Amino acid sequence: MKIFLDTANLESIRKFNDMGLLDGITTNPSLMSKEGGNPKDAMKEITKIIKGDVSLEVVSTEYSGMMEEGKRLREYGNNVVVKVPMTPDGLKACKSLSSEGIPVNVTLIFSSNQALLAAKSGAKYISPFIGRLDDIGQDGMSLIKEIKEIFSHYDFGTQILVASIRHPLHVIDAAKIGADVVTLPPAVLDKMLEHPLTKIGLDNFLADWSKLTSGNADIKI
Ligand code: E4P
Repeated sequence: MKIFLDTANLESIRKFNDMGLLDGITTNPSLMSKEGGNPKDAMKEITKIIKGDVSLEVVSTEYSGMMEEGKRLREYGNNVVVKVPMTPDGLKACKSLSSEGIPVNVTLIFSSNQALLAAKSGAKYISPFIGRLDDIGQDGMSLIKEIKEIFSHYDFGTQILVASIRHPLHVIDAAKIGADVVTLPPAVLDKMLEHPLTKIGLDNFLADWSKLTSGNADIKI
């Protein structure tokens, strides 16, 4: 399963990329807005830091605007995936951009029917938002299971990118289902790194080492 980071924060991107954890990045207009500054500069910088796919989202809502923005975004880097919303114009843009060799991520997917249609339009990725479904009392992970089952019968070549992830258990469940990609907020990835027994174990190792070597500054590893 690939891990993408769901952020436009350059510091977080560099931090996790330096650990070798990141296969790609997803952004959206809200995440860009959270960081402030000039979004174009940030987008260009992200495509340079990350070798894998970087999803950058259009803000036009009609076909021709999406096409123009999608092509401009793609000029930022060969790893740019154009993110379009799950609307009729979005799917039309998905089909056109994909036919021109520009990969597309169809976002704001909330049903298996939408996932099926986005795959038919040639999307490289579909992004079902599981946390937002959980928020309204629906089971987001069941949607991932259902889409996975549907896609297993066909040869779309479309990857399931599990989005709107809220906690580490979402990641385990997505991996058990065999989702292609999860996109994680930095806070979730931080939580996945930690375990209290790791910290206690390390503290004990260091305390024992210090007992062993105390008074002998010459002992260095
Ligand atoms: C996906 O690409 C979106 O950027 C993201 O996962 C949305 O998550 P949210 O529901 O936490 O805003």
